[in-house]
Amino acid sequence: MADKVELRRGLRDVYFDNTESSNVIGDIGRLIYRGYDIHDLAELSTFEETVFLMMHGHLPTQAELDAFDASLKAAREIPQEIVDVITLTKDAHPMDVLRTAVSALAAFDSETADVSHEATLRKGIRITAQAPTIVAAHHRIRSGEKPIPPDNSLGHAGNFLYMLLGDKPDEDTARLMDKDLIVHLDHGSNASSFAARVTASTLADVHGAIVTGISTLKGPLHGGAAEGVMKMALEIGEESNVEPYLAGKHDRKERIMGFGHAVYRAEDPRARHLREGSRVLAEKKGQPQWFQILSKVEEHMRPYAERGICVNVDFWSGSVYYLLGIPEDLFISIFAVARVPGYVAQVLEQQDKNILLRPLLNYVGPTDLSYVPIAERG
Ligand code: CMC
Repeated sequence: MADKVELRRGLRDVYFDNTESSNVIGDIGRLIYRGYDIHDLAELSTFEETVFLMMHGHLPTQAELDAFDASLKAAREIPQEIVDVITLTKDAHPMDVLRTAVSALAAFDSETADVSHEATLRKGIRITAQAPTIVAAHHRIRSGEKPIPPDNSLGHAGNFLYMLLGDKPDEDTARLMDKDLIVHLDHGSNASSFAARVTASTLADVHGAIVTGISTLKGPLHGGAAEGVMKMALEIGEESNVEPYLAGKHDRKERIMGFGHAVYRAEDPRARHLREGSRVLAEKKGQPQWFQILSKVEEHMRPYAERGICVNVDFWSGSVYYLLGIPEDLFISIFAVARVPGYVAQVLEQQDKNILLRPLLNYVGPTDLSYVPIAERG
């Protein structure tokens, strides 16, 4: 055991490299992608343009955006073999199916072994385009329906909703999903992007790094919270139950999903866009109760804000998905669809100035035990 070790459990407050991709400024609740404020991107940009920004480092010209959009659209289809893999695994959790299908895609990509910047970018664009197709195809197959082929007259977000739900979304709905994907795209050294970087740092390929990222995102402390929030809203059922419900959680020392963050000590800036989306959608769908219940939960959680436990992005996204008619176990897959290009951007950055990510563990176990043959152990 080392004598004097500076231990930062959970790697909290440890900087392991410089980055130019995104910046989470926790104390004031700001999020920046490549120099641009998330609020400007959510309001003014599109997912495709923001993905270009993250992968290339600058906003595209119209010609660049058109070419990029065409390359995304050209890659939307998935091979029949991947549809077969999805069919074989259809009863698993959607995130397990997604990571299995992305892993299987590596077998059908002619550039899998090429870890050059250019090949990683091309593969990253393909996986970004294929991820929504996988999620949607899986949902159709497990529901006993045929996958819907991509419609290239629709943008990335609108096409995803179309392939998933079977109806072409109106402009406002497609725009809301577009915004949702933008705000979920990247987030500094979040657990899954860090995990993807660790994989990339061994010079493993981008398919493997994205499988790592998706696997890490699945946990309820990271990407799984939106599902938990909607479950909570359904359990609460009506506004008058909010107070006793939260008191019970408090007494049992249970966490309230959709609150708190490893970095933010102020409101998560991503939440604002989905709160407004949830409010408008709830009215449009004639189901205002979910917005009302969640608003009341937010109100009752105000005292927690003094301890830096504020609302996070997942608090409102779940209600948006629910109102769109998306089943709860798919909420996290939507997060993954948005985060895949974020992984690609971080993998590219990692590869461009690579160093093997290999921290230390402080060993505190015994060191001088004598080996006892198995027959002599009591
Ligand atoms: N409800 C009640 N108490 C909380 C919550 C919460 N949601 N979050 C943190 N706390 C308390 C926690 O119990 C602890 O209290 P004490 O010091 O008395 O033991 C204190 O705050 C610090 O908790 P921590 O886990 O050390 O803090 P953290 O900064 O590591 O937690 C977190 C980050 C996201 C794991 C945690 O806030 C949490 O479990 N939140 C609920 C799950 C959630 O909403 N996750 C989505 C995160 S946003 C999406 C993303 O970017 O991944």
